[in-house]
Amino acid sequence: MARLVLDQITREFGDFVATDRISLTIEDGDFLVLLGPSGCGKTTLLRMIAGLLEPTSGSIRIDDEDITALPARKRDLAMVFQSYALYPHLSVEKNLAFPLKARRTPKAEIETRVRAAAESVEIDHLLDRKPKELSGGQRQRVAVARALVREPKAFLMDEPLSNLDAKLRTATRRELAALHRKLGATFVYVTHDQIEAMTMATRIALLNGGRIEQYGTPEELYDAPSSVFAAGFIGSPAMNLLNASLTTTDGKITVLAPGVEAVLWEGATAERDIVIGVRPEHLSMHAGGAPEAVPTAGVALRGTVDLVENLGREQLVHCIVGEDRVTVSCPREERWSAGDLVVLAAPVARVHLFDRASGRRLEWRADAADDAAAPNGADASIASPVSSAAPAALAASAGPAVR
Ligand SMILES: Nc1ncnc2c1ncn2[C@@H]1O[C@H](COP(=O)(O)OP(=O)(O)OP(=O)(O)O)[C@@H](O)[C@H]1O
Ligand SMILES: [Mg+2]
Repeated sequence: MARLVLDQITREFGDFVATDRISLTIEDGDFLVLLGPSGCGKTTLLRMIAGLLEPTSGSIRIDDEDITALPARKRDLAMVFQSYALYPHLSVEKNLAFPLKARRTPKAEIETRVRAAAESVEIDHLLDRKPKELSGGQRQRVAVARALVREPKAFLMDEPLSNLDAKLRTATRRELAALHRKLGATFVYVTHDQIEAMTMATRIALLNGGRIEQYGTPEELYDAPSSVFAAGFIGSPAMNLLNASLTTTDGKITVLAPGVEAVLWEGATAERDIVIGVRPEHLSMHAGGAPEAVPTAGVALRGTVDLVENLGREQLVHCIVGEDRVTVSCPREERWSAGDLVVLAAPVARVHLFDRASGRRLEWRADAADDAAAPNGADASIASPVSSAAPAALAASAGPAVR
């Protein structure tokens, strides 16, 4: 059982800052996923938690004990590597027993704990085999079992599924999530795969260039990405993002961009450059001439179908709107072909706005004092009088909310 607190963790390699003042609290029992593109500092951060790499500055605590200077073997954390790091000349049983022998655990206890760990990941029938006689998935389970036998305070995993084929990865993903529920232990899991993050995490820390871009539940990151980066990184196919400007027309907040018509909320705003975002599954497609397709509060994009991709369960329709490409995910029953003139529509609750210069999410607040108002719902904010919606009410959301 462990609560991990990272406080202002910075790691430099020469002039290069690999992690930049990262503060993060991982609650006991959380499945925290460190997510982000290659090179963003995930492994560096995990290695510092494990004690395999020293931070340049900052501190790490486990359950209020400062462990920043404690060597790895004294941290009581188990690490599972991408490469599994099994001893090739030892049987599965001996691989599992190794960390316990190293701690001079009594023989009978080693036997019980090895068997229990092997059973929990269903490799108890493989105990006599050598690693080379196992499949990738089985090796991966041995690596997890070897972490389990130690009964550590927390499990640290660095892309443990990346060597598995797609089918096995899906199955092992479920097993790991089930194991986490069963053990109730703290997991810190590194991946660049947003599907792994979305399916397993209780909390995600999205990293970008050594900093935390956004921290929250998978739902929070998906439904309210805090920046253009987060919006583009989470979701497949990715959120459509178009450059536009925001202005006020007839007491309503509207959007200007080629091919874009959007009337969002009643109110007023200073003109500003923005990025408007809509997920592919939130756009509905209509034939080009259909005026009823344009929502009274929402966005309508006028364009031309460029390409239709059949994914089996659904289709992706790629369209050209102005100079941008916009993807719609829609049922295959809808018949679209290249060259069709179309209107793509989404209600205001599905529209995301970002400040173009900073990339940060913009929240619509009908009443600047009312923290709850948001673009995602609340009719009151749309219907509110212009006077209560001062320009300042369209505020950049706060930086990454980190516990
Ligand atoms: N020992 C080192 N010396 C110099 N630079 C390093 C060292 N270790 C990591 N880096 C740099 O720090 C940055 C972060 O590396 P890190 O391995 O943490 O990335 P990552 O997010 O795990 O990426 P990936 O998804 O590719 O594994 C990279 O730019 C990397 O080149
Ligand atoms: Mg890495």
